[in-house]
Order: sequence, then C-alpha cells, then structure tokens
Amino acid sequence: MNSCLIAPSILTADFSQLHQQIQAADEGGADLWHLDVMDGHFVPPLSFSGEVIKAVSKATKNLIEVHAMVAHPSEHFETFIQNGASRVIFHYEAAMKAPHLGGPGLGETVVLLRDMGAEVGIALNPETQVDEISDLLPEIQQVTIMLIRPGWGGQQMNTSLLAKVREVRELITKQGLNLHVEVDGGVKPHNASSCREAGADIIVAGSSVFNSEGTAEQNLKILKQSLG
Ligand code: DX5
Ligand code: ZN
Repeated sequence: MNSCLIAPSILTADFSQLHQQIQAADEGGADLWHLDVMDGHFVPPLSFSGEVIKAVSKATKNLIEVHAMVAHPSEHFETFIQNGASRVIFHYEAAMKAPHLGGPGLGETVVLLRDMGAEVGIALNPETQVDEISDLLPEIQQVTIMLIRPGWGGQQMNTSLLAKVREVRELITKQGLNLHVEVDGGVKPHNASSCREAGADIIVAGSSVFNSEGTAEQNLKILKQSLG
C-alpha cells in the first residue's frame, strides 16, 4: 500500500512553547508541517500569518505547507512563501469567488502560485465535488480533501467523505499523474489507516498530536504506529 506522511497542524499547540512543541513533534516523526492560516472571512476564526510561519520555519527542517483558509488567497502568497512555505494550499471555493471580488480566477491562481516557485495544492470543502478540479490535476501537486467543515481543530471526521479521497485517487491514477492526496480534519489513531486505505498519502493531524493526553512526541509515535 501507499506510504503515508504525517503533517501536524499547530492550531491546538501551546503557542507559548511553539519552538519546543515543533521540535517534540519532529522527534516523534513529523514529516512536514501544515500551517492553517484563517482570515475571519473565508472561515469565521482568525489564526495567524507570516510571523508564525517564520517561527515554525526556524524550528524545523521539514517542509512547510500553508493551508490558506482565506477569501483572497493570491494576495497572501508572497507572505507565505517569503516566510518559509514551500507549498501553498488554497481553497477551490475561494478561488471561484475571487474574480467577483476583483481577483484572479482558478486557473490563473494556480499559475500565479507556480510562477512564485511554490508547490500548488487545492483544498475542497465537504460540499465540493472532486470533478470540479479534474481538469486541473496535471497542473498541481496536491489535492487536500477536507473531512470536516474548515475553521476549527478538534472536530469529528465525517468518514463518508473518504469516498472523495478514493475518487480523486482514481482520477489521478487514471490520468497517470503523481499527486499528493491529503486528508484534513478529525484524523485520530483509530481512523488514520482508513484514510490511507482510501488513497491519502498525507494526513493532517492537529488535536491528535497537540493535546493534554501526551507529549507531541508520544502522540506522533502512536499515530505513526496506527498507520502500520
Ligand atoms: C481546520 C484545519 C485543520 C485542523 C485539523 O480547519 O484545516 O488543519 O487543524 O485539526 P484536527 O486534526 O484536530 O481535526
Ligand atoms: Zn488545515
């Protein structure tokens, strides 16, 4: 079966100890970092932006991806990349609305990001069908399937959405492409292997890594073991 990388999200980490938390998760086997930027518009909460991305990039040697839950993704690409992001995942739903707000369209957003030297990921909200982006698959490096409503860590996974993971993996295989398929939301040791079986090769893990039950290092090791 496909190998599966773990991308911790710091949303539920202790920000007063961010450096140590990053290093603990790295020691537990974190493969890359998934940083959730929220603008209070695309999703209700605000999270963080460039300064925190920079702080994480100083604490790790792992690749950093930014998950941009923002209404105007292209306006922030430079900030993300300058502060250490190698991959930026923007939302299909935001890019589709952007032209009405004076911004670039979906295909243009992909090209803009690629021309800035970043890997391109597109995230799909639970209600968005995989077919919407099938033509763009040859142009991008990653599809992120949201298994929760975006905006908050610690929610329960909607396992019926794993069907979309299977669907996108099939489309990628059919087109002979080599893309990452990432799942985001509610991943725990008891359901991580079903994400992998559905075709995900990156799993985002927030509250299953940063919680009061164990250290980030211990929690990461448990999650890794659960993947077999
Ligand atoms: C939520 C974010 C997620 C979040 C996942 O909108 O996109 O990356 O941090 O947190 P858990 O793993 O707790 O569901
Ligand atoms: Zn995320």
